[in-house]
Amino acid sequence: MTIIVTGGAGFIGSNFIFHMLDAHTDYRIVCLDKLTYAGNLSTLASIMDKPNFRFVKLDICDREGVYKLFEEEHPDIVVNFAAESHVDRSIENPEVFLQTNILGTQVLMDACRKYGITRYHQVSTDEVYGDLPLDRPDLFFTEETPIHTSSPYSASKASADLLVLAYHRTYGLPVTISRCSNNYGPYHFPEKLIPLMIANCLNDKPLPVYGKGENVRDWLYVEDHCRAIDLIIHNGRVGEVYNVGGHNEMKNIDIVKLICQKLGKPESLITYVTDRKGHDMRYAIDPTKIHNELGWLPETKFADGIEKTIKWYLDNRDWWETIISGEYREYYEKMYGNR
Ligand code: NAD
Ligand code: DAU
Repeated sequence: MTIIVTGGAGFIGSNFIFHMLDAHTDYRIVCLDKLTYAGNLSTLASIMDKPNFRFVKLDICDREGVYKLFEEEHPDIVVNFAAESHVDRSIENPEVFLQTNILGTQVLMDACRKYGITRYHQVSTDEVYGDLPLDRPDLFFTEETPIHTSSPYSASKASADLLVLAYHRTYGLPVTISRCSNNYGPYHFPEKLIPLMIANCLNDKPLPVYGKGENVRDWLYVEDHCRAIDLIIHNGRVGEVYNVGGHNEMKNIDIVKLICQKLGKPESLITYVTDRKGHDMRYAIDPTKIHNELGWLPETKFADGIEKTIKWYLDNRDWWETIISGEYREYYEKMYGNR
């Protein structure tokens, strides 16, 4: 079994590769990644020499390169994590989001059609459903919730989802889609909420909370998401969408206060800054379908997951300090300098 994992040098893709190499020791895993600002080859250093692992630096929009890789590797399964993934960056510059997230998905699926695969899996997001109001805690996203996007990022992911379903209906491509809530854990790029707050706390820097910090996200430990995708690509029904989430809703401000407390830092570091444009209020996944059909349940409680995550950032300072000392510093100045 050969699996091409795109975007495997990023946060969830790398965790998925580690999971698959552990869970299926006889599989060959080929990681295809463009190494954008969010891709970090050092993340994959510990597996680079494994005989059943190969890394290829490639853009999923590069049709010729992608076809050549399929000719060399004859993959059985393709799991597409490659994406521009940060909402704030999509508000600043939407174009690359449309290129990678939509057109890149098309190139990958064209390759799958041309060379034949048993499964194309699209890693999507709960953000395609838009948001839920704070005063309706009884509402959750199901797979039947209409697509209703807010940001250029979520619009690009929703467009890709529609294209994936169209390739299934029109060409019979054997696809599945997972729509997961917010992940956290090791190797999370330090511009997203949890790693940013951990890094800033450790550097005694202000903790920039958008708006009033009342927005709610549904947090899932990354390993639980990886297990869900593993189940879907093996046992999920072709043509189906599966929501993935652990019923762990938290307000942003409560997460930030918890991180301060865990790291022994004062809450006076918290700084309320201008809100994100079009900021989604609340995400909340109903994971009944994946539970009933595939027996999936989250294994890591938030209390344990956040402990493990903070410990990982304490033990792996080199990994994130290298990132925030580079090009990322310019991004940070631009985004937060006058906020
Ligand atoms: P990430 O930004 O950490 O990683 C993205 C990876 O894709 C990077 O390694 C980057 O180099 C690579 N990449 C970007 N453009 C590429 C291109 N054109 N060709 C090849 N590689 C390219 O993202 P992440 O948080 O790991 O998210 C992975 C996927 O999961 C995305 O599709 C995202 O939409 C989805 N998702 C993320 C979350 C979350 O909480 N982070 C939740 C649900 C779904
Ligand atoms: O729900 C799944 C999505 O989760 C994924 O599809 C995206 O790829 C992923 O980036 C994530 O999107 P969010 O926008 O929810 O994540 P982010 O970490 O950027 O922000 C989480 C919340 O924290 C959000 O309400 C905005 C807020 N925030 C974020 C940052 C970076 C702050 O208040 N301050 C910050 O500095």
